[in-house]
Amino acid sequence: MANYQPPQRKKSPYLPLGDQQGARFYGKDILSVKQFSRDDLDYIFGVAEEMREMVERIGTFDLLKGKILANLFYEPSTRTSSSFTSAMERLGGSVIPISEVRYSSVAKGESLPDTVRTLECYADVIVIRHPEVGASALAAKYARKPIINAGDGVGEHPTQALLDLFTIYSELGRLDGLTVTMLGDLKYGRTVHSLARLLTLFRVKINYVSPDILRMPQEIIHELKEQGVPQEEFDTLDPVIGQTDVLYVTRVQKERFENQDDYESVKGAFVITPEIMDKAREKMVLMHPLPRVGEISMEVDEDPRAAYFRQMEYGLYVRMALLAMVLGKA
Ligand code: CP
Repeated sequence: MANYQPPQRKKSPYLPLGDQQGARFYGKDILSVKQFSRDDLDYIFGVAEEMREMVERIGTFDLLKGKILANLFYEPSTRTSSSFTSAMERLGGSVIPISEVRYSSVAKGESLPDTVRTLECYADVIVIRHPEVGASALAAKYARKPIINAGDGVGEHPTQALLDLFTIYSELGRLDGLTVTMLGDLKYGRTVHSLARLLTLFRVKINYVSPDILRMPQEIIHELKEQGVPQEEFDTLDPVIGQTDVLYVTRVQKERFENQDDYESVKGAFVITPEIMDKAREKMVLMHPLPRVGEISMEVDEDPRAAYFRQMEYGLYVRMALLAMVLGKA
């Protein structure tokens, strides 16, 4: 036995038959929006559209029957966690839910690499949310099975950005030629970090509206500048609301502040009300990754431009598409 070498299995050992574009995602991790091309997005959105039709027609089907997803959440979540669960179950697969890591062996001090190497013995794909930037990439380094980043601290939230773009496309019918205004906590909001980067694939203008201490990180502004994206920063919404096609509102991320006085000084900085919506374009789309804690008044919910509840549903179809793709069944 001394010379015994355990088999070294790598990611993507086989290409599935059939669709070659889908095959390119087989066995792959989804860690950052930087990994996607415009062709990839066309493909993902096409599959998501098919998923939507299937859910509307038959609800649940057996595309991923026998496959298992491990949902590993070190931070709270309602939408991402439950939409991945729903996506897997609608595709006929099943889920190992670890939403309370304090009841897992993480509470005994188990490392992230060991935790993912454990879960991949039981599951075919692992979705991870973690408070540290780069945690998903670290997990992917150790895992043989695909890792999907469901938010790594203030880093990225790539599946959210994909569903955000799918929402914009579904609501407005195009992604080029738009003015997108991002509002709120642009410093700590990982959804806007991913969305801004993904928008570089399209011909858009981006406005950033935030309190001074919550501005979009310079590193991201610089990245987008290098790609030729026109960007402007503002501290009020008034100058841009009338020229905005997509208003993307974010929550001030209380949990990321080191100094709670700073949080108190900006927590109610922006609230979208019916009066503000009166100044917006008739076809503007109002989005929010949710949860909201007062940034959009409930009086706005009935406005047809308020897309944030539809946005969550689009997320189900995008996540169904991603699971099918990384498991070679798209
Ligand atoms: N948008 C989003 O990530 O929501 P959750 O934190 O509820 O998953």
